[in-house]
Amino acid sequence: MKEKINLIAIKEIPLIKAGDDIPKIIFNALKLSNLALENGDILVIAQTIISKSLGRTQNLNQIKPSQKAIEIYKKIAPLVKKNALPEKSPELIQAILDESAEVIKTEHVMIVETHHGFVCANAGIDKSNVEGKDEITFLPLDSDKEAEKIRSSLQRITGKKIAVIISDSFGRSFRIGSVGVALGASGINPILDKRGSKDLYGKELKSTIVGQIDNLASAAQLIMGEADEGQPVVVIRCYDFNTTENTSIKQILRKRELDLFRNTKFRENFEVLLKSRRSYKLEFSNKKLDESVIKECIEIARWAPSAHNGQFWRYIIMKQGKMRESLIKNINFKLGEDLFKDGKSKNFIKKKIEKTKNQFLKSPYLILLCLDTQDLEKYSDQERGKNEYVMGVQSISASATYLLLAFEIRELAACWYCAPLFTKEIIKDTLNLPSSFIPMAFFTVGQSLKKQQIPKRKELKDIIFKV
Ligand SMILES: Cc1cc2nc3c(=O)[nH]c(=O)nc-3n(C[C@H](O)[C@H](O)[C@H](O)COP(=O)(O)O)c2cc1C
Repeated sequence: MKEKINLIAIKEIPLIKAGDDIPKIIFNALKLSNLALENGDILVIAQTIISKSLGRTQNLNQIKPSQKAIEIYKKIAPLVKKNALPEKSPELIQAILDESAEVIKTEHVMIVETHHGFVCANAGIDKSNVEGKDEITFLPLDSDKEAEKIRSSLQRITGKKIAVIISDSFGRSFRIGSVGVALGASGINPILDKRGSKDLYGKELKSTIVGQIDNLASAAQLIMGEADEGQPVVVIRCYDFNTTENTSIKQILRKRELDLFRNTKFRENFEVLLKSRRSYKLEFSNKKLDESVIKECIEIARWAPSAHNGQFWRYIIMKQGKMRESLIKNINFKLGEDLFKDGKSKNFIKKKIEKTKNQFLKSPYLILLCLDTQDLEKYSDQERGKNEYVMGVQSISASATYLLLAFEIRELAACWYCAPLFTKEIIKDTLNLPSSFIPMAFFTVGQSLKKQQIPKRKELKDIIFKV
């Protein structure tokens, strides 16, 4: 182990633009600073300049927030204000969601797991050190690859063997203050596994693994700065390490099953999901949707509670085509008759029929939910028989709710329609269903094209009845 290491910030790095050649810029800056790379140097490079050179930036005004982003915004806006933090717009929240594989916690800050597997605030999206008030930078898609490209290019130009680390600064749970962390590296092992070596007293180390590249990134951070220092590249000299090829940042990421703090995310995500589900009654996209996805959702619906576990639900999946067309034609015929009996005008009836036709024919899938009375308990008296029927209806409704939530998890748009209740026999005849089936509901499902408005909810005080 060496007794000292040197940290040298490279001056003369200009403001970086998309398409800039980072190795060339570093090489020129080294020359202008009268510096030359030496064998064993480690270059720590701030992620911001890599992201900018790769064009990983966006203007927030180009982002359309989803309903989920708006829900999160509503939740965190008061907390952000209370903590005197800068406002997080729905557009920024959407950008964070897009960069995230999983939202772990949303309070005054959003803690997410990015697609790379980094657990950090706001998916590493940065508004600082980027031009324009609405511009943001995203983390590079593959910092290992960028480190490798820069390393091999600089090694070729200078003939020196070096290592490269791409760094960022992350906040930490349990401690205040951000510290430098590595996002990717090339030529150096991310971790130093000390297990098996001896301590001062000759005892064998059983669990010591040093986060080598994080330590180096953090050291470099001391002179890199966070604000307007403009020193995004630091040379670490005299650090003793073995050159290692084909490393991956994944080596430093704790495996999910060993992460003790993840289970909190479940409730958070679930609450957001429950509130962001909407009945989608607008136009569907014509993107292909595989039937296997619909079956996956029905698989979830199977787990709903049901009275004496009767599982009275039966699902019929209808793709677009002749069968669905004749079904809707027959349903609409009955609808026309009913409305005529109600004394509605011809024009009214025409419009209503056109609307149902669009609703039920244009959705990529139409699902019919039936109650199978065969599995209901049989009683000798009418009262209990009626209650058993209600229990059946309640049970299939629970399954239908599971189904809608399963669609929501998969970002599918769906709506529950009661039309089959009014056309039970027509549906049974047209589809040739078993006599024990009672058609109860339709679900249209597909991918959304537009944003559905959020219907108003009754206040809590209006639905909790005090006695
Ligand atoms: C049992 C049931 C029947 C429904 N039937 C219809 C329907 O026939 N037509 C319709 O437009 N929406 C129907 N809906 C959807 C409701 O209009 C919708 O759930 C409600 O407005 C609340 O909106 P949200 O689901 O987006 O929160 C039905 C919902 C349920 C639960």
